[in-house]
Amino acid sequence: MSTAISPTAYNYKVVRQFAIMTVVWGILGMGLGVFIASQLVWPQLNFDLPWTTFGRLRPLHTNLVIFAFGGCALFATSYYVVQRTCQTRLISDGLAAFTFWGWQAVIVGAIISLPLGYTTTKEYAELEWPIAILLAIVWVTYAVVFFGTIVKRKTKHIYVGNWFYGAFILVTAMLHIVNHASLPVSLFKSYSAYSGATDAMIQWWYGHNAVGFFLTTGFLGMMYYFVPKQAERPIYSYRLSIVHFWALITLYIWAGPHHLHYTALPDWAQSLGMAMSIILLAPSWGGMINGMMTLSGAWHKLRTDPILRFLVVSLAFYGMSTFEGPMMAIKTVNSLSHYTDWTIGHVHAGALGWVAMISIGALYHMIPKLFGRAQMHSVGLINTHFWLATIGTVLYIASMWVNGITQGLMWRAINDDGTLTYSFVEALQASHPGYIVRALGGAFFAAGMLFMAYNVWRTVRASDPAQAEAAAQIAVVGAH
Ligand code: HEM
Ligand code: HEM
Repeated sequence: MSTAISPTAYNYKVVRQFAIMTVVWGILGMGLGVFIASQLVWPQLNFDLPWTTFGRLRPLHTNLVIFAFGGCALFATSYYVVQRTCQTRLISDGLAAFTFWGWQAVIVGAIISLPLGYTTTKEYAELEWPIAILLAIVWVTYAVVFFGTIVKRKTKHIYVGNWFYGAFILVTAMLHIVNHASLPVSLFKSYSAYSGATDAMIQWWYGHNAVGFFLTTGFLGMMYYFVPKQAERPIYSYRLSIVHFWALITLYIWAGPHHLHYTALPDWAQSLGMAMSIILLAPSWGGMINGMMTLSGAWHKLRTDPILRFLVVSLAFYGMSTFEGPMMAIKTVNSLSHYTDWTIGHVHAGALGWVAMISIGALYHMIPKLFGRAQMHSVGLINTHFWLATIGTVLYIASMWVNGITQGLMWRAINDDGTLTYSFVEALQASHPGYIVRALGGAFFAAGMLFMAYNVWRTVRASDPAQAEAAAQIAVVGAH
């Protein structure tokens, strides 16, 4: 345990900035999610204006929730974790500040350009080349700050959470740069350097690894720090963490073709993607089990600690979505699920249940420490948030399962004479109740974020600068 205090302090300023923006972008991105979910219930909400149509707002939703909300959560926590586990300040305050302002500029670029219709049309890589270049520069700077800090660490070992953050940073840089290779023809228009099936393969190599490294590996880094911290227990198995780390990063990179089943992609590539996806269940569950088992002997804390509840339930949803994913990667299952709302349900089991819940838990742990408070303003409000988020996620996923399977079965139903039993519109009508339930679930989840914003605001307002300063001092000896 820490005793002596060194004169230097951690750079918490950049962590605070990213943490606050996580909440802000979370509310905007999820609010927009509720809006586009409502458009699918009441199409009049498209307002007949090009920039408010579903087609333009949907990519804005995905960019805001993944890169703005998820990205800021990853920046905030990785900067916090790398400093505390290496017991040293970030290598450069200037570069860290550049990553903050640069990242916000990328997000503002997305907010302006996507509704105006500027897009590369590649999913999750829609941003046109000037913004994509800025993103690449910010990301490489992030890598310099993160790995530079690891190099000047005061500890002997590199804590396992940093392995996960490190892999997420490196692979994201590689994916973004390779997939974005393109020929600009004007300031806002570029053409991909690849064509045909190759373009599709590179796009889904990117797309799936955006899931694998951005939405999974980075958040596992978060899990490996905040779950043991909040549970006040050491990680269940350090060995398991290393084994599942190498297995996870080795396998994920091959699974992309499961997004392209029954397409012009060579059959062997589709089968390879399917096989790798099924094997991926093992290292995914390795992480889930390691996180869950860390609570051995501390389960009673769940009765009183809503932050721990967020973290544990996120692991449960992680386990669930990484079971569902390999099943959906099986070609015969995919022939039913592809194009349906089942995929959307799977996405949000991971996105709301895992990514958002673990981020929210980590923020509730971190924010009082960043602002020199013993705990959040209200534990009761965290609990309210927890229930809104959990019920919202369940409503979202369950309604999309029902819709997805209904759509898949109705589309493939044929009469004795070989004609289709149902028209497309009939399947759409059957989906309407599910869309209402999904919008309601989303509204629950987004409402929880508003409670969070209020709780954070009250905590920050009561912040004690002297306490915050003291909390940021680097402990020379002891646990992180
Ligand atoms: C209040 C919460 C949310 C609501 C109501 C919501 C709603 C929606 C809707 C209506 C769609 C379009 C579905 C379609 O095209 O049929 C969508 C897509 C998507 N959302 Fe969300 N969302 C929420 C939160 C999130 C979060 C937190 C994330 C990520 C961290 C996320 C990631 C995505 C992704 C990746 C897609 C595209 C899925 C695909 O193309 O298969 N969403 N969301
Ligand atoms: C072992 C882990 C996983 C496997 C094998 C897997 C597999 C799959 C499969 C087969 C699809 C449907 C592809 C299609 O029919 O087009 C899919 C879609 C998707 N999954 Fe997963 N999944 C896994 C975990 C996750 C997690 C944890 C998340 C989120 C945090 C996630 C996010 C997504 C997204 C965003 C899509 C939609 C992509 C799109 O079409 O736009 N997946 N996944």
